[in-house]
Amino acid sequence: MSRMVYVDGRYVPSSHGVVSINDRGLQFADGVYELIYFSQDHFIDGKPHFERLRYSLDALEIPLPFSYDTFTLKARYLMQLNHVTEGLFYLQVTRGVCVRQHVIPTAPITPTVIMSLKPWRMNFFQEGAAVFTMPDMRWQRCDIKSTSLLGNILGKTISDRKAGKEIWFTDTQGIVREGGASNAWIVKNGQLLTHPLEQHILSGVTRMRVLKLAQSLDIPVIEKPFTLEETYCADEAFLTSTSNSILPVTTLDEREIAQGTVGPITHQLQEAYQQFVSKEALYD
Ligand code: PDD
Repeated sequence: MSRMVYVDGRYVPSSHGVVSINDRGLQFADGVYELIYFSQDHFIDGKPHFERLRYSLDALEIPLPFSYDTFTLKARYLMQLNHVTEGLFYLQVTRGVCVRQHVIPTAPITPTVIMSLKPWRMNFFQEGAAVFTMPDMRWQRCDIKSTSLLGNILGKTISDRKAGKEIWFTDTQGIVREGGASNAWIVKNGQLLTHPLEQHILSGVTRMRVLKLAQSLDIPVIEKPFTLEETYCADEAFLTSTSNSILPVTTLDEREIAQGTVGPITHQLQEAYQQFVSKEALYD
């Protein structure tokens, strides 16, 4: 059965979900997106995702197409049309359709809104993953969740060809910024470290949730840059993202971290996250 999608106010089979060749999302990647996990028809951390969408749109001066309530109504209808109760929901907003010109048009145009979903089950990984690193060659505004992902896809492809699960981008000082589609974490001497929020990293919603869970579990946590060298000899490492939840990282650039084992703090956070998803998050 063809999956149903939403394009500009219409629910259509995915094969009929088309946008104009003059859409600035196609011409310039002039648009932003969110990927949100849903379970039992409810978004997990839906509001923080929507707030981040608003932040990205504001940064690019694209008007917010609808309120959170309107969004969730439309989204739930799409879930029902597809008979999918658990999955990943993709929301994309582009600046809209306009004759090709680089400069942002002064005349108001209507943003293009695309929504689609796929069935998917959240995995709480027991095994660790291999991650590779490379110098960050992306643009300087990774805090905006732009659909312009060439740097990310090239980096992730380099890692994938070596059987890696993720790429971690480093700055010129060897500091680990974030992953191609995830945030990066290490544990050292019982303390959890992750890069502070600034323009080179995305403010991950899972990152925010893990920070809160760590605080509630009395795990010391500090938002502080850490280097590649510190990561190689960390006690634990993991990454966070909507699609991979909390994924242990046991090798980095083919070097084992903590003899390739998944550490106790990672386990504790995974358990807490699983509980959060199955209980509290169902009431968004
Ligand atoms: N990626 N950093 C980058 C560059 C990302 O693309 C993502 C998310 C994250 C983690 O954000 P969150 O915890 O809100 O998912 C960090 C999504 C899942 C994607 O592009 O598929």
